[in-house]
Amino acid sequence: MTWEDLEKACLSCRACALAENRRNVVIGKGCKTAPILFVGEGPGENEDIQGVPFVGAAGQLLDQALISIGYKPEDYYIGNVVKCRPPQNRTPLEAECNACIGYLRGQFALIRPKIVVCLGSVAANYLIEKDIKITRARGVWREKKGVWFMPTYHPAALLRDESKKFDMWKDIKAAYDKLQELKAQ
Ligand code: URA
Repeated sequence: MTWEDLEKACLSCRACALAENRRNVVIGKGCKTAPILFVGEGPGENEDIQGVPFVGAAGQLLDQALISIGYKPEDYYIGNVVKCRPPQNRTPLEAECNACIGYLRGQFALIRPKIVVCLGSVAANYLIEKDIKITRARGVWREKKGVWFMPTYHPAALLRDESKKFDMWKDIKAAYDKLQELKAQ
């Protein structure tokens, strides 16, 4: 499979009801050969309008963290578990995630990241472990088949609770440090 195949499949996908009200399919953004893959939950309103992930308030917080830590554009790619906006930004249903997860797996296979940071519990449940508790598991690394996975808070959680900001920053910095460590090996 190529990126072109994957993008075509996403754009014409009607595998779940989220296709009915979407303005755009939000596939991902960033470097397609990046060593770090960030995975969110699903597009919100701004993302649905622009067709790009993490462009709203949560995305701005994430951008601030990435820039202040020193991430370069070639260091990361950002995607979501579901690629169409759930109504009223509700959490995507399990059936919607199951219908869509193959596209994220395709992105993972094409990017071949060394590090995956799961932003929030939906991504962490799908990519790390079912029923994972972010408050307990955040910042903890797990290695699977040579790829390092870590969950952290979803940036939208920081908009609701500022006290989570420091830990999320710490986790994103830890991913940056892990990348430098892997590069040095
Ligand atoms: N929240 C997400 O999980 N993903 C986005 O793309 C935007 C907000």
